[in-house]
Amino acid sequence: MPQPRVLAWGFMPTPARIHVAHALHEVFGEGGRVPDIWDRDLGEDAHLAQALLGLCLRRWGRLQAWVKPKLKDPDRGVPLGTRVVLAMGLAQLAWLPGVSDHAAVNESVDLAANRDLGFLPHKGLVNALLRRAAKDRPALAAELDALPAALDRGPAADRVLLAALGPHGAEAETEALWTRLQQPPRPDFRLLKGDPPEGLAPEAELPGCLCLLEGAPFPRAWLESAGGMVQDRSSQALLAYDWDRPVARILDACAAPGGKTTTLALRHPGAAITALEVHPKRATRLRQTLEQRGVEARVIQADAAEWLEGNDATFDLILLDAPCSGSGTLQKHPEWPWLKHEDQSRLTGLQRRLLAAAAGRLAPGGLMIYAVCSWLPEECGSHREWLAQARPELRPAEVWPAAMGSAQDANKGATAFFRPHPLRWTGEGFQGFAVRRG
Ligand SMILES: C[S@@+](CC[C@H](N)C(=O)[O-])C[C@H]1O[C@@H](n2cnc3c(N)ncnc32)[C@H](O)[C@@H]1O
Repeated sequence: MPQPRVLAWGFMPTPARIHVAHALHEVFGEGGRVPDIWDRDLGEDAHLAQALLGLCLRRWGRLQAWVKPKLKDPDRGVPLGTRVVLAMGLAQLAWLPGVSDHAAVNESVDLAANRDLGFLPHKGLVNALLRRAAKDRPALAAELDALPAALDRGPAADRVLLAALGPHGAEAETEALWTRLQQPPRPDFRLLKGDPPEGLAPEAELPGCLCLLEGAPFPRAWLESAGGMVQDRSSQALLAYDWDRPVARILDACAAPGGKTTTLALRHPGAAITALEVHPKRATRLRQTLEQRGVEARVIQADAAEWLEGNDATFDLILLDAPCSGSGTLQKHPEWPWLKHEDQSRLTGLQRRLLAAAAGRLAPGGLMIYAVCSWLPEECGSHREWLAQARPELRPAEVWPAAMGSAQDANKGATAFFRPHPLRWTGEGFQGFAVRRG
């Protein structure tokens, strides 16, 4: 198994470890996501905390499977506090050679005694298991690496992998895709103005996209000055559609946090942009972000379906980047397989309602793009089929190069269905389709 960057810390300060333990409790106790800013206050130690959290999330199943047979009564449930603390200790011993035995073992034992995060009666057990494991760290790593990768994912992730590979006839490559998705992702950026800072290199296959070079520092100051923004290459490729008709009015129907609104403004300078967002806090943040980047847009906090149904405005370009399961973000969100997922039928119902409302607002000659960061067919392909029946006047628009679709999607070297091969394309899992009116 590929190793994460070797870290040179000899001792992990407690706040970093406590943050990791909190995040693991949130995921495995509540089925909730790791909060976006979970590591904000950690300063330099954020790197170690990120590496440790990533390892525990990505290898949770095998870490638990390693512990189980070593318990006195393996069939008895083990409290979450014990599982979290052991996973953290073992992950450091196995895969973070820069962390000393002393730090990995003793801090885990201390954490076991923490009322909120550990389980005091198991302090001795944690101590004994970790001390034994620390005696031969390479052997521990080899044992853990030899356990089946499937332990780390569960049925929800299996279904996503098959859905991603199915349109390409590549279902046999599940393990290869899982291996790819287990690598911590490197962020992509988009230049907004001026020159890119050192450490960012243009991505040859996608004009405008910049990638972080190995070992380069994260360009925080550049992002804060609105010189650029973080934007995954899949989003950038989706918005690199080939469309040369005039665009005067744009609707971004689900706009926060505003990455795609920004790109639309760059692509169509002078067009009037309406950006809708249902959640008040996200709408406020969207307004602030667009203002900071100098993007002019009318931001409206509203349910997009309701707003569109009660409004007779039409648009030359509509982007519906719909709320979705996020199943395409497995690489960035390794906790995804363990989350309590929202009711899928409620979600697909909402997507359908938004699509129906948006489709009614496309001006003659206009282009509509529907997209989700999900690989599941019910969040995209099924909606495309429904739309073809419900609105036959909306024709497929082949606006992406053929490589962005599956072999069956391509027509004269271009595709109206966006679903790049998940093993040949390294971006997030995105699906989309484009239709034009007339
Ligand atoms: C996938 S995100 C959009 C990401 C955005 N396009 C970008 O690139 O930065 C979907 C957004 O839709 C919003 N949303 C969910 N339901 C909505 C609705 N009924 N009307 C409008 N926005 C909605 C969510 O709050 C979320 O911010």
